Amino acid sequence: MTIKFALIGGGVMGEALLSRFISGGMYQSTEVIVSEPLPARQSYLEQKYQVRVTADNRLVFTEAQEVVLLAVKPQVFSAIAQELAEVAEINGRHKASVGAHENNHSQPLLISILAGLPLKQLEGAFPRLPIIRAMPNTPATIGAGMTAICSGAYTKVKHQELTKKLFAAVGEVVEITEPLMDAVTGLSGSGPAYVALMVEALSDGGVAAGLPRVIANQLALQTVLGAAQLLHESKIHPAELKDRVTSPGGTTIAGITQLEKSAFRSALIEAVVAAKKRSQELGK
Ligand SMILES: NC(=O)c1ccc[n+]([C@@H]2O[C@H](COP(=O)([O-])OP(=O)(O)OC[C@H]3O[C@@H](n4cnc5c(N)ncnc54)[C@H](OP(=O)(O)O)[C@@H]3O)[C@@H](O)[C@H]2O)c1
Repeated sequence: MTIKFALIGGGVMGEALLSRFISGGMYQSTEVIVSEPLPARQSYLEQKYQVRVTADNRLVFTEAQEVVLLAVKPQVFSAIAQELAEVAEINGRHKASVGAHENNHSQPLLISILAGLPLKQLEGAFPRLPIIRAMPNTPATIGAGMTAICSGAYTKVKHQELTKKLFAAVGEVVEITEPLMDAVTGLSGSGPAYVALMVEALSDGGVAAGLPRVIANQLALQTVLGAAQLLHESKIHPAELKDRVTSPGGTTIAGITQLEKSAFRSALIEAVVAAKKRSQELGK
């Protein structure tokens, strides 16, 4: 059976994507190979997904015909790039020699989800390979993710379409230009933590107002979930939802007045901008 999809790094995000790609029918287990150094993790992935698992990144990189998904921590990227340099060089030469043959299946698309690692660096390590940078977020692990993708110099429309199809299996996908990647990190990448903080604070507010903790947690979480779902499904502007639930002299406008006094909206705006700046710093 031809190996179509290779995963380098079977950790949290790698597994989440692998799991959805298989359950969504994008790839059969027999078409997948995973490289992962930890023996316990290897047998876990092998048993759970019935895929071939190895510790040999070169083998994985050589065998993949369609996609190689790089899902290791950014700190180990240079070691992996060094390890794969020879194979990448051979692939690059091969590509140059076959020219623009569209159906050249020996050239896989490399998708990197490594935070902060620019296309320039990826293309330096994997010359002439089609490369796409993708930035998913944690809700992708339950199929409710938000992924932004940007394309390298050697990608074609078919690569972009394939990547969009793959990440659509774990949530929504948008295509952006690379300079916007840091802003994406500041909003959807770091965003789940802001929302978690908000749920926690709402629950604290409920307790401060006299509710038992368990009930306060349930109310806070379901309110955030319900409001997000309502906005998503009805497609109404957030300001319109706010207007609909604020009656003159009522309770909600009293709460909102307090949020404005505490600069709630400004705090979120500044949080996104600060995270974007930090992402830029880490990428240097
Ligand atoms: N988690 C997220 O929400 C999220 C969101 C967007 C982007 N990302 C990006 O996704 C990447 C992975 O994040 P993660 O949270 O999934 O991290 P993780 O759970 O630590 O996964 C990384 C995996 O790579 C393995 N690995 C380490 N060295 C390797 C090598 N030389 N060859 C092959 N595999 C190797 C690790 O094995 P060991 O455990 O044995 O070290 C681990 O299983 C990161 O670059 C991160 O920036 C993550």
